[in-house]
Amino acid sequence: MYHDTIIKNARVVTGSGETLCDIGIKDGCIATLGLDLGPAHEVIDATGLIALPGGIDSHVHIAQPSGPGIEMADDFASATRSAACGGNTTVMPFCLQDDGYTLREAVADYHAKADGQCFVDVSFHLIIKNTDPQTIGQDLPALIEAGYTSFKIFMTYEGLALSDSQILEVMDAAKRHNAMVMVHAENEAAIEFLRDKAEAHGETAPLYHARTRPVPVEREATHRAISLAEIAGVPVTIVHVSNGAALDEIMRARQRGVKVFAETCPQYITLTADDLDRAGFEGAKYVCSPPPRDTDEQNAIWAGIERGDFNLFSSDHCPFRFADPAGKDAAGARASFRNIPNGIPGIETRLPILFSEGVMKGRISLSRFAELTATNHARLYGLAPRKGAIAVGADADIVLWDPTLTKQISQNDLHHGSDYTPWEGFAVTGWPVRTILRGKTVCQNNTITESASGTYLPRKSPEVLL
Ligand code: URP
Ligand code: ZN
Ligand code: ZN
Repeated sequence: MYHDTIIKNARVVTGSGETLCDIGIKDGCIATLGLDLGPAHEVIDATGLIALPGGIDSHVHIAQPSGPGIEMADDFASATRSAACGGNTTVMPFCLQDDGYTLREAVADYHAKADGQCFVDVSFHLIIKNTDPQTIGQDLPALIEAGYTSFKIFMTYEGLALSDSQILEVMDAAKRHNAMVMVHAENEAAIEFLRDKAEAHGETAPLYHARTRPVPVEREATHRAISLAEIAGVPVTIVHVSNGAALDEIMRARQRGVKVFAETCPQYITLTADDLDRAGFEGAKYVCSPPPRDTDEQNAIWAGIERGDFNLFSSDHCPFRFADPAGKDAAGARASFRNIPNGIPGIETRLPILFSEGVMKGRISLSRFAELTATNHARLYGLAPRKGAIAVGADADIVLWDPTLTKQISQNDLHHGSDYTPWEGFAVTGWPVRTILRGKTVCQNNTITESASGTYLPRKSPEVLL
């Protein structure tokens, strides 16, 4: 076969481990894995580099409605440019049904924002905030059928949090139509109780965002979400797990036979609540939910990653600008942490942080890195076997990593729309030097090399991994 592109001499990470072979690409797909693949239109010499499946970030927020006067820092162009430069080839943002719109209208509107703008492939999860008969009985089944096979629900945030009976309704719909429910597990009543008390005592600085969302707030909600899923008889994914007690709930449920999947994020292995206590208003840069904890909890999350308890490592990219009244410096944010928009940027730094802290420090293998950052995302959210692995027949979504490249993460080098990174100065070893999307190089040495050629990916039902 005359290949369009051959990648030669890389250490290739496949589903069955690592191998030294060449990768032959034809018509945007991986056509051949082997040696002596013959001539090709383009030959990429990847000597000294590692070929990994393109990252899939299945938890990102892009251009999501965020309340009056608040605007996310990224549109689809800037977020996906940043994703590509961080070694990703697919991202999965959330389509939120804003007040006054049906879920189907929200999806159409979200497509209008994304279409033609994306530098990597995209696929949308839904956010369910209404459980009226039209949403649950008509729109949701139609959208699942059309390939929107996963949705996030919230147990916190005023206006978004669902009651237990609403959660059961959503889970029941997921069971009937074979979709995946992703849960943000924090107890809203407990947070409101603690927040009101903190404010009454004048405890209003960003640090109190973390103090009013302590571990039991997440542990209780995790237990409740899993119990509700058990009652409804559906698998469930607990997103952005931040601590060992919540992970213990997940592991206990798995021992009972419940299919619970677990996601964690860079912030829970690298940041702590002390970051929210930085001088002046700097702590606002680290306000996200659940909040970063302490080094003991970081160690508990690492232990879970090393044991294989976590299925997914995502960014929860949710970017706001710092020096901006439409971002972290929103009206009232300096008067109380309750008014600081929740979320941090991280779409470009997720993979280098796990590569450096996990692979290069000997905590996880390259195969485990591939599962946590691509393969499991594709399988759990219905994109496999087309996405998530270097395998014959799959899309040629391949990222070449230089494991010797050392860097200090810096806002100056990133491509997102935010004006800061929570990881400013964080030292990493290893960086993605070439991102190949369906056979075309979209980013090389931190520079975008292709026009916006990302496509939308409808999805199949989830593949239940346990
Ligand atoms: O603080 C966060 N994580 N904001 C993004 C929305 C969410 O809850 O994931
Ligand atoms: Zn969340
Ligand atoms: Zn999120």
